[in-house]
Amino acid sequence: MLEVKKISKSYSGVEVLKGVDLYARPGEIVGVLGPNGAGKTTLLEIIEGLIQADSGDIELDKIQLGIRRNNTSKSMAVVLQTTPLPPFMTAEELMQLFSASYSTCIKKSRELLSVVGLESKKEVSINTLSVGQKQRLGIALALAAEPDILFADEPSSALDPQARRIVWGLLKDYVASGEKTVILSTQHMDEAETLCTRVYLLSEGRIRSQGTPEEMVRENAPGCVISFQTSGELSDSLLKLENIEKTGFIDGLQKFEIIAKDGHEIARVMRVLTSDESVDVSSINIKRNTLEDVFIKLTGRSLRD
Ligand SMILES: Nc1ncnc2c1ncn2[C@@H]1O[C@H](COP(=O)(O)OP(=O)(O)O)[C@@H](O)[C@H]1O
Ligand SMILES: [Mg+2]
Repeated sequence: MLEVKKISKSYSGVEVLKGVDLYARPGEIVGVLGPNGAGKTTLLEIIEGLIQADSGDIELDKIQLGIRRNNTSKSMAVVLQTTPLPPFMTAEELMQLFSASYSTCIKKSRELLSVVGLESKKEVSINTLSVGQKQRLGIALALAAEPDILFADEPSSALDPQARRIVWGLLKDYVASGEKTVILSTQHMDEAETLCTRVYLLSEGRIRSQGTPEEMVRENAPGCVISFQTSGELSDSLLKLENIEKTGFIDGLQKFEIIAKDGHEIARVMRVLTSDESVDVSSINIKRNTLEDVFIKLTGRSLRD
């Protein structure tokens, strides 16, 4: 188990991390979420041993790794948003080069290329690969180390929807044995909801909330938004409902939203809505709050760098 305790880090007197705690068990994909500049990469690089923290402690399986290392532990490997790769080598040559530095897995390099779906591309030079293929190669290179902990820093941000799903599948498969851990930083809440067993929401250098995605939603943005359209005036019973808000007026139809805290409230609102003849029943829509709503609620709506 990885335990990260009270990590702080300043750049030129500006505190970027202010005492961050985090833990991750084998079998987990742990998400570090946060807007641009929140400190995600800084935190990951401190755990990886690529940069030094000012204070705090990092333990792996109860062994202190310390925060003043100048090297990455053998049991860790990193996937970046885009991996700089030598353009004129082939995928196979590069895999063999990496594998040679990890004596355990020279025989695995071919296997890994097929795991990431690059078997047919192994002999072409890397500069002819697509962005998604390069990212999959970056993952294969990281997996060649057979790390106990794989760090993925916004691994799918540059990818199209199909390629993102392939990368998600690779990360999920990596933890499936229950022995490996993935630490994933992302600002895409769909990615976190799909992949992560637990998430930490980092904002302005502090963990603002943590838990499973479901717990985070339940604690921070419980309930649903019920939306509907009506062609006439609202009935008295609808007007009496709490948390009702007009959100628009299009083609002679008024649009409304109601926030319902729990299942009982949804049922009550639905009874009133379906008994009001001016409400277009086909327009009624219920949307459960998601991690994205939690993210906006806790990190604000203002533009980030
Ligand atoms: N080497 C550095 N020198 C000075 N400031 C830095 C350095 N690295 C990151 N920062 C600053 O630290 C903050 C957090 O950055 P970062 O960890 O990259 O955030 P994120 O990955 O969440 O987008 C930002 O304000 C960034 O400008
Ligand atoms: Mg970053």
